[in-house]
Amino acid sequence: MKVLFVCLGNICRSPSAEGVFREISSAQTDSAGTGGWHVGDPPYGPMLDAAARRGYDFSDLRARQFTAQDFQAFDLIIGMDAANIRDIEDLRPAGNETPVRLFTDYAETTMTEVPDPYYTRDFDGALDLIELCAKGLNDAIA
Ligand code: 4NP
Repeated sequence: MKVLFVCLGNICRSPSAEGVFREISSAQTDSAGTGGWHVGDPPYGPMLDAAARRGYDFSDLRARQFTAQDFQAFDLIIGMDAANIRDIEDLRPAGNETPVRLFTDYAETTMTEVPDPYYTRDFDGALDLIELCAKGLNDAIA
C-alpha cells in the first residue's frame, strides 16, 4: 500500500500527516504540495517544534510538488482540505481511478478539513486532528 498526503505548501500539514502516519503504519508514505513555492524545503520550523514536543521527527522530509504521475505511483491520495482535492483532481489522467479522499473522512470529527497552521498558528490543534485522522486511516486500510 502506497499512501500520498497532499496539502498546499507541503511544509506544514502533509509532512506532519506523513510523519505521524509513518510511525503507526507499515504502508509506504510520501507527501506533496499542490503549489511549488517551497519545493526542496524542509517542513516549517514551528511545525517541527510542535511535533518534536510529541516525539515526532520528520525533519528528513523535503517539499515537492504534486504531479499527474502521482496518480499512477500511489494507491491512495489524501488531501487536507477541499481546495487540495480540487487541485489534485484537476491533474487526474483520463481513465485513472486512484481514490482521492479527505484526511478528515477517516476520523470521527465534525471537521471537514485540517485547518492550515501556517495561517492559524495552531500547530497543536492541527497535530491533534492529524493524529486522530492517522489512526482512523490506519484502521481503514489495515
Ligand atoms: P501547508 O501550509 O499547505 O500546510 O504546507 C502552507 C505553507 C506555506 C504556504 C501555503 C500553505 N505558502 O503559500 O507559502
